[in-house]
Amino acid sequence: MDFLLPYTLIFFSIIILLLSTSLLKQRTAFKNLRLPPGPWPLPIIGNLHCLIGSLPHRALQDLSQQYGSLLLLQLGETPTVIASSIEASREILTTHDVKFASRPIGPTIRILTGGGKGIAFSSYGEYWRHVRKICIVELLSNKRVQSFRPIREEEVNNLVRNIYASASSGQFINLHEVLTMLANDITVKTVIGSKCKDPDVFVKELDNIVKLASGFSLVDLYPSSWLLRLISKRLDDAKRCREKVYQFFDGIIRQQRERKSTRGDGVGEDLLSVLLRIHDEDTEQIPLDIDDIKAIISDMFTGGSETMSTTLEWAMTELIRNHRVMRKAQTEVRELLKGCTTVSESDLVRLNYLHLVIKETLRLHPPLPLLVPRQCRETCRIIGYDIPKGATVIVNMWAIGRDPQYWEDPEEFKPERFATSNVDFRGTDFQFLPFGSGRRMCPGMSFGLANVELALMTLLYHFDWKLPGDVKPEDVEMSEAPGITVRKKTPLLLHAVRHEPDSA
Ligand code: HEM
Repeated sequence: MDFLLPYTLIFFSIIILLLSTSLLKQRTAFKNLRLPPGPWPLPIIGNLHCLIGSLPHRALQDLSQQYGSLLLLQLGETPTVIASSIEASREILTTHDVKFASRPIGPTIRILTGGGKGIAFSSYGEYWRHVRKICIVELLSNKRVQSFRPIREEEVNNLVRNIYASASSGQFINLHEVLTMLANDITVKTVIGSKCKDPDVFVKELDNIVKLASGFSLVDLYPSSWLLRLISKRLDDAKRCREKVYQFFDGIIRQQRERKSTRGDGVGEDLLSVLLRIHDEDTEQIPLDIDDIKAIISDMFTGGSETMSTTLEWAMTELIRNHRVMRKAQTEVRELLKGCTTVSESDLVRLNYLHLVIKETLRLHPPLPLLVPRQCRETCRIIGYDIPKGATVIVNMWAIGRDPQYWEDPEEFKPERFATSNVDFRGTDFQFLPFGSGRRMCPGMSFGLANVELALMTLLYHFDWKLPGDVKPEDVEMSEAPGITVRKKTPLLLHAVRHEPDSA
Protein backbone atom coordinates (compact mmCIF):
# COMPACT_ATOMS: atom_id res chain seq x y z
CA MET A 1 0.00 0.00 0.00
CA ASP A 2 3.05 2.30 0.27
CA PHE A 3 2.61 3.39 -3.31
CA LEU A 4 -0.61 5.21 -2.21
CA LEU A 5 1.24 7.48 0.25
CA PRO A 6 2.45 10.14 -2.23
CA TYR A 7 -1.05 10.40 -3.77
CA THR A 8 -2.63 10.76 -0.34
CA LEU A 9 -0.13 13.50 0.56
CA ILE A 10 -0.78 15.35 -2.69
CA PHE A 11 -4.53 15.03 -2.18
CA PHE A 12 -4.45 16.49 1.34
CA SER A 13 -1.97 19.21 0.33
CA ILE A 14 -4.40 20.38 -2.36
CA ILE A 15 -7.25 20.50 0.15
CA ILE A 16 -5.10 22.47 2.65
CA LEU A 17 -3.96 24.89 -0.07
CA LEU A 18 -7.51 25.55 -1.26
CA LEU A 19 -8.81 26.11 2.25
CA SER A 20 -5.89 28.40 3.23
CA THR A 21 -6.43 30.57 0.15
CA SER A 22 -10.09 31.09 0.93
CA LEU A 23 -9.34 32.00 4.59
CA LEU A 24 -6.64 34.45 3.50
CA LYS A 25 -9.07 36.22 1.13
CA GLN A 26 -11.57 36.54 3.97
CA ARG A 27 -9.01 38.10 6.37
CA THR A 28 -8.18 40.79 3.80
CA ALA A 29 -11.87 41.62 3.34
CA PHE A 30 -12.34 42.16 7.13
CA LYS A 31 -9.26 44.42 7.48
CA ASN A 32 -11.15 47.65 8.24
CA LEU A 33 -13.83 46.20 10.49
CA ARG A 34 -14.01 46.38 14.28
CA LEU A 35 -14.70 42.70 14.79
CA PRO A 36 -15.94 41.19 18.08
CA PRO A 37 -13.21 39.66 20.25
CA GLY A 38 -12.49 35.93 20.19
CA PRO A 39 -9.73 33.36 20.47
CA TRP A 40 -6.98 33.48 17.88
CA PRO A 41 -7.89 31.17 14.96
CA LEU A 42 -5.49 28.41 13.90
CA PRO A 43 -4.65 27.92 10.23
CA ILE A 44 -7.28 25.88 8.35
CA ILE A 45 -9.43 24.81 11.32
CA GLY A 46 -9.92 28.30 12.75
CA ASN A 47 -11.44 27.90 16.23
CA LEU A 48 -13.01 24.48 15.77
CA HIS A 49 -10.74 23.03 18.44
CA CYS A 50 -12.39 25.36 21.01
CA LEU A 51 -15.61 23.35 20.70
CA ILE A 52 -14.06 19.95 21.32
CA GLY A 53 -14.98 18.20 24.56
CA SER A 54 -18.33 19.70 25.45
CA LEU A 55 -21.66 20.38 23.78
CA PRO A 56 -21.67 23.55 21.64
CA HIS A 57 -24.00 25.63 23.89
CA ARG A 58 -21.78 24.86 26.92
CA ALA A 59 -18.47 25.43 25.10
CA LEU A 60 -19.81 28.73 23.72
CA GLN A 61 -20.95 29.82 27.20
CA ASP A 62 -17.38 29.23 28.50
CA LEU A 63 -15.89 31.20 25.61
CA SER A 64 -18.33 34.10 26.12
CA GLN A 65 -17.34 34.26 29.78
CA GLN A 66 -13.71 34.66 28.65
CA TYR A 67 -14.11 36.99 25.67
CA GLY A 68 -17.41 38.85 26.12
CA SER A 69 -21.09 38.68 25.29
CA LEU A 70 -20.44 39.14 21.57
CA LEU A 71 -17.81 36.74 20.38
CA LEU A 72 -16.29 35.94 16.99
CA LEU A 73 -15.18 32.44 16.08
CA GLN A 74 -13.85 31.12 12.82
CA LEU A 75 -15.64 27.80 12.39
CA GLY A 76 -14.07 26.23 9.34
CA GLU A 77 -14.62 28.70 6.52
CA THR A 78 -17.41 30.67 8.17
CA PRO A 79 -17.01 33.58 10.58
CA THR A 80 -19.51 32.87 13.35
CA VAL A 81 -20.73 35.43 15.87
CA ILE A 82 -22.16 34.29 19.20
CA ALA A 83 -24.45 36.57 21.23
CA SER A 84 -24.94 35.77 24.91
CA SER A 85 -26.51 38.86 26.43
CA ILE A 86 -29.84 40.68 26.43
CA GLU A 87 -28.32 43.74 24.74
CA ALA A 88 -26.65 41.83 21.90
CA SER A 89 -29.65 39.58 21.20
CA ARG A 90 -32.07 42.51 21.29
CA GLU A 91 -30.01 44.38 18.66
CA ILE A 92 -29.73 41.28 16.46
CA LEU A 93 -33.31 40.02 16.74
CA THR A 94 -35.20 43.32 16.92
CA THR A 95 -33.28 46.53 16.17
CA HIS A 96 -31.52 45.07 13.12
CA ASP A 97 -33.88 42.09 12.65
CA VAL A 98 -34.16 42.50 8.89
CA LYS A 99 -30.38 42.34 8.46
CA PHE A 100 -30.29 39.02 10.32
CA ALA A 101 -33.47 37.51 8.90
CA SER A 102 -31.76 34.97 6.65
CA ARG A 103 -30.47 31.52 7.50
CA PRO A 104 -27.04 30.12 6.63
CA ILE A 105 -27.52 27.12 4.39
CA GLY A 106 -24.69 24.64 3.93
CA PRO A 107 -24.48 21.87 1.31
CA THR A 108 -26.25 19.25 3.49
CA ILE A 109 -29.24 21.45 4.32
CA ARG A 110 -29.38 22.63 0.70
CA ILE A 111 -29.90 19.01 -0.37
CA LEU A 112 -32.33 18.18 2.43
CA THR A 113 -34.50 21.20 1.61
CA GLY A 114 -34.39 20.76 -2.17
CA GLY A 115 -32.30 23.94 -2.62
CA GLY A 116 -33.66 25.98 0.32
CA LYS A 117 -37.40 25.38 -0.07
CA GLY A 118 -39.85 25.46 2.84
CA ILE A 119 -39.85 27.90 5.76
CA ALA A 120 -37.16 27.09 8.27
CA PHE A 121 -34.09 27.32 6.02
CA SER A 122 -35.19 29.47 3.10
CA SER A 123 -33.31 32.73 2.55
CA TYR A 124 -35.02 35.94 3.56
CA GLY A 125 -36.97 37.32 0.61
CA GLU A 126 -40.23 37.14 -1.29
CA TYR A 127 -40.41 33.32 -1.30
CA TRP A 128 -39.84 33.02 2.47
CA ARG A 129 -42.37 35.83 3.18
CA HIS A 130 -44.92 34.01 1.08
CA VAL A 131 -44.54 30.57 2.69
CA ARG A 132 -44.31 32.11 6.16
CA LYS A 133 -47.62 33.91 5.54
CA ILE A 134 -49.26 30.63 4.51
CA CYS A 135 -47.82 29.04 7.61
CA ILE A 136 -49.11 31.77 9.99
CA VAL A 137 -52.50 32.33 8.36
CA GLU A 138 -53.41 28.84 7.19
CA LEU A 139 -51.37 26.16 8.94
CA LEU A 140 -50.60 27.29 12.47
CA SER A 141 -53.29 29.90 13.19
CA ASN A 142 -55.14 29.69 16.53
CA LYS A 143 -58.24 28.46 14.71
CA ARG A 144 -56.29 25.63 13.08
CA VAL A 145 -54.54 24.70 16.34
CA GLN A 146 -58.00 24.54 17.99
CA SER A 147 -59.32 22.32 15.20
CA PHE A 148 -56.72 19.70 16.20
CA ARG A 149 -57.95 19.52 19.79
CA PRO A 150 -59.79 16.17 19.31
CA ILE A 151 -56.56 14.63 17.96
CA ARG A 152 -54.57 15.83 20.96
CA GLU A 153 -57.20 14.58 23.41
CA GLU A 154 -57.47 11.21 21.71
CA GLU A 155 -53.71 10.74 21.67
CA VAL A 156 -53.21 11.65 25.35
CA ASN A 157 -55.98 9.20 26.25
CA ASN A 158 -54.09 6.51 24.30
CA LEU A 159 -50.98 7.48 26.23
CA VAL A 160 -52.81 7.02 29.55
CA ARG A 161 -54.08 3.60 28.45
CA ASN A 162 -50.58 2.48 27.41
CA ILE A 163 -49.04 3.66 30.67
CA TYR A 164 -51.81 1.93 32.68
CA ALA A 165 -51.12 -1.30 30.82
CA SER A 166 -47.36 -1.20 31.41
CA ALA A 167 -47.69 0.01 35.00
CA SER A 168 -50.15 -2.72 35.96
CA SER A 169 -47.70 -5.36 34.75
CA GLY A 170 -45.06 -3.78 37.01
CA GLN A 171 -42.87 -2.36 34.22
CA PHE A 172 -40.93 0.89 34.40
CA ILE A 173 -42.21 3.55 32.05
CA ASN A 174 -39.58 4.74 29.60
CA LEU A 175 -40.68 8.38 29.40
CA HIS A 176 -38.42 9.03 26.44
CA GLU A 177 -40.14 6.30 24.42
CA VAL A 178 -43.74 7.07 25.34
CA LEU A 179 -43.34 10.83 24.89
CA THR A 180 -41.60 10.44 21.53
CA MET A 181 -44.43 8.18 20.40
CA LEU A 182 -47.03 10.68 21.60
CA ALA A 183 -45.32 13.59 19.81
CA ASN A 184 -44.95 11.58 16.59
CA ASP A 185 -48.55 10.37 16.64
CA ILE A 186 -49.97 13.85 17.20
CA THR A 187 -47.71 15.29 14.50
CA VAL A 188 -48.46 12.58 11.92
CA LYS A 189 -52.23 12.94 12.43
CA THR A 190 -52.29 16.73 12.33
CA VAL A 191 -49.87 17.10 9.43
CA ILE A 192 -50.75 14.27 7.05
CA GLY A 193 -53.90 12.76 8.55
CA SER A 194 -54.65 9.30 9.88
CA LYS A 195 -54.38 7.45 6.58
CA CYS A 196 -50.61 7.06 6.83
CA LYS A 197 -49.84 3.33 6.35
CA ASP A 198 -46.33 3.02 7.69
CA PRO A 199 -45.68 6.04 9.91
CA ASP A 200 -42.75 4.45 11.77
CA VAL A 201 -40.55 4.12 8.68
CA PHE A 202 -41.34 7.67 7.72
CA VAL A 203 -40.72 9.05 11.23
CA LYS A 204 -37.35 7.24 11.27
CA GLU A 205 -36.30 8.96 8.05
CA LEU A 206 -37.37 12.32 9.45
CA ASP A 207 -35.25 11.60 12.48
CA ASN A 208 -32.33 11.05 10.11
CA ILE A 209 -33.05 14.42 8.50
CA VAL A 210 -32.79 16.11 11.90
CA LYS A 211 -29.52 14.26 12.60
CA LEU A 212 -28.05 15.20 9.22
CA ALA A 213 -29.14 18.83 9.62
CA SER A 214 -27.35 19.17 12.95
CA GLY A 215 -23.74 18.77 13.99
CA PHE A 216 -20.55 19.81 12.32
CA SER A 217 -19.29 18.10 9.20
CA LEU A 218 -16.27 18.97 7.05
CA VAL A 219 -18.37 19.51 3.96
CA ASP A 220 -20.59 22.07 5.74
CA LEU A 221 -17.67 23.77 7.48
CA TYR A 222 -15.88 24.26 4.15
CA PRO A 223 -18.78 24.76 1.74
CA SER A 224 -16.63 26.22 -1.04
CA SER A 225 -14.48 23.09 -1.34
CA TRP A 226 -15.65 21.17 -4.41
CA LEU A 227 -13.23 18.39 -3.46
CA LEU A 228 -14.92 17.79 -0.11
CA ARG A 229 -18.31 17.87 -1.80
CA LEU A 230 -17.09 15.30 -4.28
CA ILE A 231 -15.93 12.82 -1.65
CA SER A 232 -18.51 13.45 1.06
CA LYS A 233 -20.65 10.46 2.08
CA ARG A 234 -22.87 12.77 4.11
CA LEU A 235 -24.22 14.46 0.99
CA ASP A 236 -25.13 11.07 -0.51
CA ASP A 237 -26.88 10.15 2.74
CA ALA A 238 -28.78 13.45 2.63
CA LYS A 239 -29.89 12.78 -0.99
CA ARG A 240 -31.03 9.25 -0.15
CA CYS A 241 -32.88 10.43 2.94
CA ARG A 242 -34.66 13.24 1.11
CA GLU A 243 -35.66 10.93 -1.75
CA LYS A 244 -37.17 8.40 0.67
CA VAL A 245 -39.15 11.06 2.54
CA TYR A 246 -40.33 12.68 -0.70
CA GLN A 247 -41.39 9.29 -2.14
CA PHE A 248 -43.39 8.72 1.02
CA PHE A 249 -45.07 12.12 0.54
CA ASP A 250 -45.85 11.23 -3.09
CA GLY A 251 -47.79 8.18 -1.85
CA ILE A 252 -49.70 10.22 0.74
CA ILE A 253 -50.47 12.98 -1.76
CA ARG A 254 -51.84 10.37 -4.22
CA GLN A 255 -54.10 9.00 -1.48
CA GLN A 256 -55.28 12.47 -0.50
CA ARG A 257 -56.10 13.27 -4.13
CA GLU A 258 -58.15 10.07 -4.39
CA ARG A 259 -60.09 10.94 -1.23
CA LYS A 260 -60.65 14.55 -2.37
CA SER A 261 -61.52 15.45 1.22
CA THR A 262 -61.72 19.20 1.22
CA ARG A 263 -64.22 20.64 3.67
CA GLY A 264 -65.77 24.05 3.13
CA ASP A 265 -64.71 25.79 6.35
CA GLY A 266 -61.25 24.28 6.41
CA VAL A 267 -61.81 22.99 9.96
CA GLY A 268 -60.62 19.43 10.56
CA GLU A 269 -58.35 19.38 7.51
CA ASP A 270 -54.83 18.10 8.06
CA LEU A 271 -52.02 20.46 7.03
CA LEU A 272 -51.20 18.56 3.85
CA SER A 273 -54.83 18.88 2.65
CA VAL A 274 -54.69 22.62 3.35
CA LEU A 275 -51.55 22.99 1.26
CA LEU A 276 -52.96 20.88 -1.59
CA ARG A 277 -56.11 23.03 -1.58
CA ILE A 278 -53.98 26.21 -1.84
CA HIS A 279 -52.00 24.56 -4.65
CA ASP A 280 -55.19 23.59 -6.55
CA GLU A 281 -56.90 26.96 -6.10
CA ASP A 282 -53.80 28.56 -7.64
CA THR A 283 -54.80 32.09 -6.57
CA GLU A 284 -51.46 32.92 -4.93
CA GLN A 285 -49.02 35.37 -6.52
CA ILE A 286 -46.23 32.85 -6.04
CA PRO A 287 -47.80 29.44 -6.79
CA LEU A 288 -46.84 26.58 -4.49
CA ASP A 289 -45.45 23.59 -6.38
CA ILE A 290 -45.52 20.04 -5.02
CA ASP A 291 -41.88 20.20 -3.90
CA ASP A 292 -42.63 23.38 -1.91
CA ILE A 293 -45.46 21.52 -0.22
CA LYS A 294 -43.21 18.58 0.66
CA ALA A 295 -40.57 20.93 2.10
CA ILE A 296 -43.15 22.79 4.23
CA ILE A 297 -44.59 19.51 5.51
CA SER A 298 -41.07 18.31 6.46
CA ASP A 299 -40.58 21.59 8.37
CA MET A 300 -43.78 20.98 10.32
CA PHE A 301 -42.54 17.54 11.36
CA THR A 302 -38.98 18.42 12.16
CA GLY A 303 -40.00 21.68 13.91
CA GLY A 304 -42.88 20.22 15.88
CA SER A 305 -42.28 16.70 17.02
CA GLU A 306 -38.91 16.61 18.77
CA THR A 307 -39.35 20.02 20.45
CA MET A 308 -42.51 18.70 22.10
CA SER A 309 -41.14 15.39 23.39
CA THR A 310 -37.88 17.03 24.53
CA THR A 311 -39.74 19.69 26.55
CA LEU A 312 -41.97 17.07 28.16
CA GLU A 313 -39.12 14.74 29.12
CA TRP A 314 -37.13 17.59 30.72
CA ALA A 315 -40.27 18.80 32.55
CA MET A 316 -40.84 15.33 34.03
CA THR A 317 -37.13 15.04 34.89
CA GLU A 318 -37.14 18.34 36.78
CA LEU A 319 -40.40 17.45 38.55
CA ILE A 320 -39.12 14.08 39.76
CA ARG A 321 -36.00 15.80 41.11
CA ASN A 322 -38.05 18.49 42.84
CA HIS A 323 -40.62 16.80 45.04
CA ARG A 324 -42.06 20.11 46.32
CA VAL A 325 -42.75 21.36 42.80
CA MET A 326 -44.24 18.00 41.74
CA ARG A 327 -46.62 18.02 44.74
CA LYS A 328 -47.68 21.60 44.11
CA ALA A 329 -48.31 21.01 40.38
CA GLN A 330 -50.21 17.76 41.03
CA THR A 331 -52.32 19.30 43.80
CA GLU A 332 -53.36 22.11 41.47
CA VAL A 333 -54.32 19.76 38.63
CA ARG A 334 -56.10 17.23 40.88
CA GLU A 335 -58.12 19.82 42.80
CA LEU A 336 -59.28 21.30 39.53
CA LEU A 337 -60.16 17.98 37.87
CA LYS A 338 -61.41 16.13 40.97
CA GLY A 339 -63.65 13.25 39.90
CA CYS A 340 -63.03 13.56 36.13
CA THR A 341 -62.17 10.30 34.36
CA THR A 342 -60.42 12.02 31.46
CA VAL A 343 -58.73 15.37 31.06
CA SER A 344 -59.98 17.99 28.64
CA GLU A 345 -58.12 20.86 27.04
CA SER A 346 -60.70 23.37 28.29
CA ASP A 347 -59.37 22.77 31.84
CA LEU A 348 -56.00 24.27 30.92
CA VAL A 349 -57.12 27.90 31.16
CA ARG A 350 -57.97 27.41 34.83
CA LEU A 351 -54.47 26.19 35.70
CA ASN A 352 -51.73 28.55 36.72
CA TYR A 353 -48.82 26.71 38.33
CA LEU A 354 -48.57 24.14 35.50
CA HIS A 355 -47.86 26.98 33.05
CA LEU A 356 -45.09 28.25 35.33
CA VAL A 357 -43.57 24.75 35.40
CA ILE A 358 -43.48 24.73 31.58
CA LYS A 359 -41.91 28.19 31.46
CA GLU A 360 -39.22 27.17 33.94
CA THR A 361 -38.52 24.01 31.92
CA LEU A 362 -38.08 26.10 28.77
CA ARG A 363 -35.71 28.45 30.61
CA LEU A 364 -33.39 25.70 31.84
CA HIS A 365 -33.82 23.35 28.88
CA PRO A 366 -34.77 25.28 25.73
CA PRO A 367 -35.12 22.46 23.14
CA LEU A 368 -33.15 24.62 20.67
CA PRO A 369 -30.45 26.06 22.97
CA LEU A 370 -28.82 28.03 20.13
CA LEU A 371 -32.19 28.84 18.45
CA VAL A 372 -31.79 28.34 14.68
CA PRO A 373 -28.74 30.18 13.26
CA ARG A 374 -29.23 33.44 11.37
CA GLN A 375 -27.10 34.88 8.60
CA CYS A 376 -25.95 38.51 8.44
CA ARG A 377 -27.23 40.00 5.15
CA GLU A 378 -25.21 43.24 5.29
CA THR A 379 -22.33 44.39 7.46
CA CYS A 380 -23.86 45.82 10.58
CA ARG A 381 -22.82 47.23 13.98
CA ILE A 382 -23.97 45.37 17.11
CA ILE A 383 -23.10 46.67 20.62
CA GLY A 384 -20.17 48.54 19.08
CA TYR A 385 -18.73 45.72 16.93
CA ASP A 386 -18.98 45.11 13.19
CA ILE A 387 -20.62 41.87 12.09
CA PRO A 388 -19.39 41.07 8.59
CA LYS A 389 -21.86 40.33 5.80
CA GLY A 390 -22.26 36.56 5.39
CA ALA A 391 -21.34 35.74 9.00
CA THR A 392 -23.41 33.08 10.77
CA VAL A 393 -25.02 34.55 13.88
CA ILE A 394 -26.00 32.41 16.85
CA VAL A 395 -27.89 33.51 19.97
CA ASN A 396 -26.93 31.29 22.91
CA MET A 397 -30.34 31.26 24.59
CA TRP A 398 -29.30 28.44 26.88
CA ALA A 399 -26.49 30.60 28.34
CA ILE A 400 -28.73 33.69 28.66
CA GLY A 401 -31.36 31.58 30.47
CA ARG A 402 -28.77 30.60 33.09
CA ASP A 403 -26.97 33.91 33.44
CA PRO A 404 -26.87 35.09 37.11
CA GLN A 405 -27.01 38.70 35.83
CA TYR A 406 -30.62 38.06 34.77
CA TRP A 407 -31.82 35.23 36.99
CA GLU A 408 -31.62 34.65 40.74
CA ASP A 409 -30.33 31.13 41.57
CA PRO A 410 -30.20 30.43 37.83
CA GLU A 411 -29.41 26.70 38.12
CA GLU A 412 -32.41 26.01 40.38
CA PHE A 413 -35.77 24.82 39.13
CA LYS A 414 -38.11 27.40 40.67
CA PRO A 415 -41.33 27.92 38.66
CA GLU A 416 -42.42 30.57 41.23
CA ARG A 417 -39.91 33.01 39.74
CA PHE A 418 -42.39 33.58 36.90
CA ALA A 419 -45.34 34.16 39.27
CA THR A 420 -43.98 37.50 40.39
CA SER A 421 -42.60 38.75 37.06
CA ASN A 422 -44.10 39.55 33.68
CA VAL A 423 -41.28 37.83 31.80
CA ASP A 424 -42.78 35.77 28.98
CA PHE A 425 -41.60 33.78 25.97
CA ARG A 426 -43.43 35.80 23.34
CA GLY A 427 -40.29 37.34 21.90
CA THR A 428 -39.97 40.64 23.73
CA ASP A 429 -38.16 39.60 26.92
CA PHE A 430 -34.64 38.98 25.73
CA GLN A 431 -33.54 37.02 28.78
CA PHE A 432 -36.11 34.35 27.83
CA LEU A 433 -36.51 33.46 24.16
CA PRO A 434 -37.08 29.70 23.83
CA PHE A 435 -39.12 30.39 20.65
CA GLY A 436 -36.73 33.03 19.31
CA SER A 437 -37.82 36.54 18.38
CA GLY A 438 -38.38 38.85 15.43
CA ARG A 439 -39.27 37.96 11.87
CA ARG A 440 -38.08 34.36 12.12
CA MET A 441 -39.58 33.65 15.49
CA CYS A 442 -41.19 30.19 15.81
CA PRO A 443 -44.59 30.20 14.08
CA GLY A 444 -45.55 26.94 15.87
CA MET A 445 -45.49 28.32 19.43
CA SER A 446 -49.25 27.95 20.11
CA PHE A 447 -49.35 24.52 18.52
CA GLY A 448 -46.31 23.34 20.48
CA LEU A 449 -47.60 24.71 23.79
CA ALA A 450 -51.08 23.23 23.29
CA ASN A 451 -49.50 19.76 22.95
CA VAL A 452 -47.08 20.15 25.85
CA GLU A 453 -49.62 21.61 28.28
CA LEU A 454 -52.26 18.94 27.67
CA ALA A 455 -49.77 16.08 27.89
CA LEU A 456 -48.18 17.35 31.12
CA MET A 457 -51.56 17.96 32.77
CA THR A 458 -52.54 14.39 31.82
CA LEU A 459 -49.36 12.79 33.19
CA LEU A 460 -49.72 14.65 36.49
CA TYR A 461 -53.43 13.96 36.90
CA HIS A 462 -53.54 10.25 36.17
CA PHE A 463 -50.32 9.02 37.80
CA ASP A 464 -48.05 9.34 40.79
CA TRP A 465 -44.46 9.04 39.64
CA LYS A 466 -41.64 7.32 41.50
CA LEU A 467 -37.95 6.79 40.84
CA PRO A 468 -36.58 3.22 40.67
CA GLY A 469 -35.88 1.95 44.23
CA ASP A 470 -32.28 2.97 44.83
CA VAL A 471 -32.15 6.23 42.82
CA LYS A 472 -32.27 9.45 44.83
CA PRO A 473 -33.76 12.61 43.26
CA GLU A 474 -30.37 14.35 43.32
CA ASP A 475 -28.81 11.41 41.43
CA VAL A 476 -31.13 11.60 38.42
CA GLU A 477 -28.97 11.69 35.29
CA MET A 478 -29.10 15.18 33.72
CA SER A 479 -26.59 14.82 30.86
CA GLU A 480 -27.58 16.14 27.47
CA ALA A 481 -27.28 14.39 24.12
CA PRO A 482 -25.66 16.20 21.17
CA GLY A 483 -27.92 17.45 18.37
CA ILE A 484 -29.79 20.49 17.09
CA THR A 485 -32.43 19.82 19.77
CA VAL A 486 -30.92 18.98 23.12
CA ARG A 487 -32.54 15.89 24.55
CA LYS A 488 -31.73 13.98 27.71
CA LYS A 489 -28.80 11.67 27.05
CA THR A 490 -30.27 8.72 28.97
CA PRO A 491 -34.00 8.03 28.94
CA LEU A 492 -36.00 8.87 32.05
CA LEU A 493 -37.30 5.63 33.61
CA LEU A 494 -40.03 5.94 36.25
CA HIS A 495 -42.65 3.85 38.01
CA ALA A 496 -46.19 5.05 37.37
CA VAL A 497 -48.81 4.48 40.07
CA ARG A 498 -52.40 4.95 39.01
CA HIS A 499 -54.21 7.86 40.68
CA GLU A 500 -57.92 7.24 41.33
CA PRO A 501 -59.97 10.07 39.78
CA ASP A 502 -62.24 10.70 42.75
CA SER A 503 -59.47 11.29 45.30
CA ALA A 504 -57.82 14.77 45.33
C1 HEM B 1 -41.87 23.59 22.43
C2 HEM B 1 -42.04 23.74 21.16
C3 HEM B 1 -41.17 24.57 20.23
C4 HEM B 1 -40.04 25.30 20.47
C5 HEM B 1 -39.33 25.52 21.81
C6 HEM B 1 -39.63 25.90 19.21
C7 HEM B 1 -38.53 26.74 19.04
C8 HEM B 1 -38.19 27.35 17.84
C9 HEM B 1 -37.08 28.28 17.68
C10 HEM B 1 -36.13 28.71 18.79
C11 HEM B 1 -37.05 28.66 16.39
C12 HEM B 1 -36.06 29.66 15.74
C13 HEM B 1 -36.57 31.06 15.97
C14 HEM B 1 -35.63 32.17 15.53
O1 HEM B 1 -34.80 31.99 14.63
O2 HEM B 1 -35.75 33.28 16.12
C15 HEM B 1 -38.13 27.99 15.70
C16 HEM B 1 -38.42 28.13 14.36
C17 HEM B 1 -39.40 27.42 13.72
N1 HEM B 1 -40.32 26.56 14.31
FE1 HEM B 1 -40.49 26.12 16.27
N2 HEM B 1 -40.51 25.50 18.23
C18 HEM B 1 -41.47 24.70 18.81
C19 HEM B 1 -42.55 24.11 18.17
C20 HEM B 1 -42.82 24.20 16.83
C21 HEM B 1 -43.94 23.57 16.16
C22 HEM B 1 -45.02 22.76 16.87
C23 HEM B 1 -43.83 23.85 14.83
C24 HEM B 1 -44.71 23.45 13.68
C25 HEM B 1 -45.56 22.48 13.67
C26 HEM B 1 -42.63 24.68 14.66
C27 HEM B 1 -42.18 25.17 13.46
C28 HEM B 1 -41.13 26.05 13.32
C29 HEM B 1 -40.71 26.61 12.03
C30 HEM B 1 -41.35 26.30 10.67
C31 HEM B 1 -39.64 27.48 12.29
C32 HEM B 1 -38.86 28.31 11.28
C33 HEM B 1 -39.46 29.71 11.15
C34 HEM B 1 -38.74 30.59 10.14
O3 HEM B 1 -37.56 30.36 9.86
O4 HEM B 1 -39.38 31.53 9.64
N3 HEM B 1 -42.06 24.86 15.89
N4 HEM B 1 -38.81 27.19 16.63
